[in-house]
Amino acid sequence: MQRIPDTPFPTFLVETQESANALLADEITALLSERSGRLVLGLATGSSPVGLYAELVRRFKEDWGDLSFVKTFNLDEYRGLPTGHPASYQTFMTKHLFSKINLGTEHVHFPPTEANDFDAACAAWEETIRSAGGIDWQLLGVGRNGHIGFNEPASPFDSRTRRVELAESTRAANARFFDSADEVPTEAVTMGIGTILEAKRLRVLAFGETKAEILASVLRGEDDSSIPLNALRRHPDTALYIDAAAAARLG
Ligand code: F6R
Repeated sequence: MQRIPDTPFPTFLVETQESANALLADEITALLSERSGRLVLGLATGSSPVGLYAELVRRFKEDWGDLSFVKTFNLDEYRGLPTGHPASYQTFMTKHLFSKINLGTEHVHFPPTEANDFDAACAAWEETIRSAGGIDWQLLGVGRNGHIGFNEPASPFDSRTRRVELAESTRAANARFFDSADEVPTEAVTMGIGTILEAKRLRVLAFGETKAEILASVLRGEDDSSIPLNALRRHPDTALYIDAAAAARLG
């Protein structure tokens, strides 16, 4: 692994995705032992974290033992999908992680997708994060348009958990998880950028050529506050891990 020079926040070129996953799993292992298992994790879905979750499951089976005190908060969820829909983020997390480790079900949290008073439900969810002591370690992926969570371009850096409309480019990128592109919801709920910035550590994965263009504009460009990924410049403990394909346009 090599630190890429002259980037606005710490960015590392990894030889393989597996090496980034192992490194992040090492961090979680260290935190679990420091906190005697009382860790608060912020989690992401999509392609980027699949290998990491497999590595966490492997370590859990090997020697981690009890995760029943770990609390998790997922970044986002689609709105309008029925419970158990194969493309919902709850289904994704159950499949890749939650069904394979011994989290307490009462410790797993997703942002609200339906409520009479949606703003109040989002505020209550943020209060749940605060009363858990805040997020110790937050995983992020990067959208091709630079989104983090479902904070699409031009989301304010002080935004909180809220209902959002998905960009057409995001719906197109995520169509692969649905039977047809029309089925991709138009709305979601996401932790805000301000919420994300309150996590104590941010760890970001971006792999593959589809991320090369946005990474070049963030890592080599001006501090453009319309691109959510640039919010990472405002966080004191952030690290981005990218592979050679994602780094291809950095020059
Ligand atoms: C998912 C999320 C999104 C994804 C991003 C990258 O919970 O918050 O921001 O991280 O769209 O997706 P992949 O990893 O599929 O390229």
